[in-house]
Amino acid sequence: MTKKVTVNTIKNYKSSKEKFSVLTAYDCYTAKYIDEAGIDIILIGDSLAMVALGYENTNAIGADEMEIFTRAVAKGVKRALVVTDMPFLSYHKSIESAVENCGKMIRAGANGVKIEGGSDYIISVIEQLTSVGIPVMGHLGFTPQFLNQLGGYKIQGKTREAADEIVRQAKKLEKAGVFSIVLEMVPEDSAKYITEKLTVPTISCGAGRYCDAQVLVSDDVFGKYPEFKPKFARKYGDMGKLIYECAKQYNDDVKSGKFPSEEEVF
Ligand code: KIV
Repeated sequence: MTKKVTVNTIKNYKSSKEKFSVLTAYDCYTAKYIDEAGIDIILIGDSLAMVALGYENTNAIGADEMEIFTRAVAKGVKRALVVTDMPFLSYHKSIESAVENCGKMIRAGANGVKIEGGSDYIISVIEQLTSVGIPVMGHLGFTPQFLNQLGGYKIQGKTREAADEIVRQAKKLEKAGVFSIVLEMVPEDSAKYITEKLTVPTISCGAGRYCDAQVLVSDDVFGKYPEFKPKFARKYGDMGKLIYECAKQYNDDVKSGKFPSEEEVF
């Protein structure tokens, strides 16, 4: 029987120094294949706003939409830990509404949630979530929900002072009970420095080789999102081309009368 990945499995990776993998998914059967490939955490990232729904940025998606995709992904997964990225404004209004919205994702099948930032308010939210049994993944460095305030997609933690500030926030997250922390767009040496100061695993999203894990957006990995590819992402396939070729062949076959064939009719 497949052994389910739990938050304890993830925390233990840090002490055993074994790397683990995180990939996003947004639908049931993509999640199934990713799970069968051995990915340890499947994240329903709010990146789905851009790569699956075609919205301009991640702030355009709401908790109701994330809940639908969480339900779909959870149905396809047997082994991986399923984590839902809480979208913009779904945990910012009050601790009460944060617990309510995060709780909906757990009811939809997630095993935990991811929330961005390290302010005192966020720390209170995390303390409350973990106290009611909702595991939390933190997210520091470049936090996309602060895109407008940060003035664009900018590398964070470049200086020793900036890296120390991330360490300060990460330690508060750790104390509040997070089981891991995503570090996004942080220079490799700063991410190494931060990772060495923590007891929970760090997950690199463009933060180099010395974090405890790596995360990528699956549409970048599969070559399906055509708008842009971040420098830190690696494209392993060309699903965009595959979809185009299948659709084109089908179109040609319908129009030339090759589809359906005798075997494909009743
Ligand atoms: O939205 C997302 O997919 C993410 C990860 C890439 C960390 O936040």
